[in-house]
Amino acid sequence: MFRSQVPNSTYTAIHVESVSKAYAKSWRKRRAGVTLPPALADVSLAIAPRESVAIVGVNGSGKSTLVRILATLTTPDAGTVQVFGHDVVREATRVRTYINRVSVDASFFKQMSPWENLVYAGRLYGQTGKEIEERATSLLQRLGFPRHAVHRPMNGLSRGQQQKVAIVRSLLSSPAILLLDEPTTGLDPRSKHEVQDVVQELHEESDLTVVLCTHDLAEAEALCSRIIVLDRGKLIGDGTPDQLRAENGLSPHNTLEQLFLAMTGRSFLEDGESGEEES
Ligand SMILES: Nc1ncnc2c1ncn2[C@@H]1O[C@H](COP(=O)(O)OP(=O)(O)OP(=O)(O)O)[C@@H](O)[C@H]1O
Ligand SMILES: [Mg+2]
Repeated sequence: MFRSQVPNSTYTAIHVESVSKAYAKSWRKRRAGVTLPPALADVSLAIAPRESVAIVGVNGSGKSTLVRILATLTTPDAGTVQVFGHDVVREATRVRTYINRVSVDASFFKQMSPWENLVYAGRLYGQTGKEIEERATSLLQRLGFPRHAVHRPMNGLSRGQQQKVAIVRSLLSSPAILLLDEPTTGLDPRSKHEVQDVVQELHEESDLTVVLCTHDLAEAEALCSRIIVLDRGKLIGDGTPDQLRAENGLSPHNTLEQLFLAMTGRSFLEDGESGEEES
């Protein structure tokens, strides 16, 4: 059974207060007088321990930026973010002990096998060989990871297999909060279900707080009890699917796609803004 190490804290798991973030423009855009919209604009939210929350929004709405701030990978320009009462900028090292993140394009030592990557990560997290072996074996099995692929180089594995290794790796540190940034994007239906089932089971059997960014509204509703909607960097909805439907004059029979259309005036399937260059 997976155990999540939740700190004995009176603070809420995640507290985001008036956070804004804009990426720097390239010199070419600066010269042309182009102004980029902020990736996040005055976003505030709070997530309690053991909640499972989905963050949805079209491409470019700021989901990954928010997750990267929570994971201490980038800093907000304005506002504050606390994880169990610890500031993500001033106490980043402490925050990292509570949080782990699985991104859509996880990086590995590609010449090394899943097992070698997991042992390496487990050691970094201070686990013993026995602990790593027990936990990794059981999680790989639950995710339906093929035994024959455990000792093959990562670069020979499918995207779905690599994603499963990324999920196992993220759980080796027994995080209190798991940030999943599009964990099932690009997976075949079977792998998608295996990943979704494990996320749901882990959340149910442990004290894990789950924050899931997804483009799959059905996945959001199935795995999470609460949905946060970002649109062009702004938080435009936060509640259970039924609360959001009621707030927007819809009935419980309306789909999340219809809800999204009512909230943003745009179809969820319509593309948002494309990516910009690194700041
Ligand atoms: N490293 C970066 N450098 C410059 N701009 C960036 C960078 N990362 C994101 N952006 C811009 O910030 C905005 C929000 O992007 P972000 O990746 O947070 O959105 P997202 O909701 O995760 O999108 P997607 O669904 O495509 O993953 C977009 O306009 C994007 O182009
Ligand atoms: Mg993203």
